[in-house]
Amino acid sequence: MAILKLAVMGHPVLKRRADEVDDPTAPEILRLIDDMIATLDDAGGVGLAAPQIYVPFRVVIFEVPAARLGIAESETLPRTVLINPVITPLSDQRELGWEGCLSVPGLRGAVPRFTEIGYRGLDASGRTIEREARGFHARVVQHECDHLDGMLYPMRMADLASLHFVSEMRHNPTWMPAPDEDLAWSQAADVA
Ligand code: NI
Repeated sequence: MAILKLAVMGHPVLKRRADEVDDPTAPEILRLIDDMIATLDDAGGVGLAAPQIYVPFRVVIFEVPAARLGIAESETLPRTVLINPVITPLSDQRELGWEGCLSVPGLRGAVPRFTEIGYRGLDASGRTIEREARGFHARVVQHECDHLDGMLYPMRMADLASLHFVSEMRHNPTWMPAPDEDLAWSQAADVA
């Protein structure tokens, strides 16, 4: 287990499509997951994708604090390891929420995401995980899985006017994105 350097925006490993994992139980994948957990714990954040530590495999980890779970989800979601994930939006509805990224340090932006998704993948034992997610939970999964396809959150932003350095957000206490009939507003500012 090692705390590793984080790849930041511009590095090729964050631009490519990551490779499928053939055997989730392979020793190198278990080591990768251990390194991802150690690195995320050290950096602080709610999620991490393998390319963020320069490993181009389709592996993400995330956790959703109890306070962030929607009312339909009554329990804290423990840290989840998801291998070869696949996301299916459950409706066309999207909402804006603040996002940050350990690979885009110091910045926050308002990003539209699907409000309800289904996702499936494998855990570190090779067992299938299949869940539905809403709100922040759905947002984190979409953010992490984007990393596996070379997408960083600024590439998803509809309006770059909301891209702020965290240090300057205090100057914009009432700042909100322009109203959009298709987009509700949610507050979410954790890095992932
Ligand atoms: Ni990220």
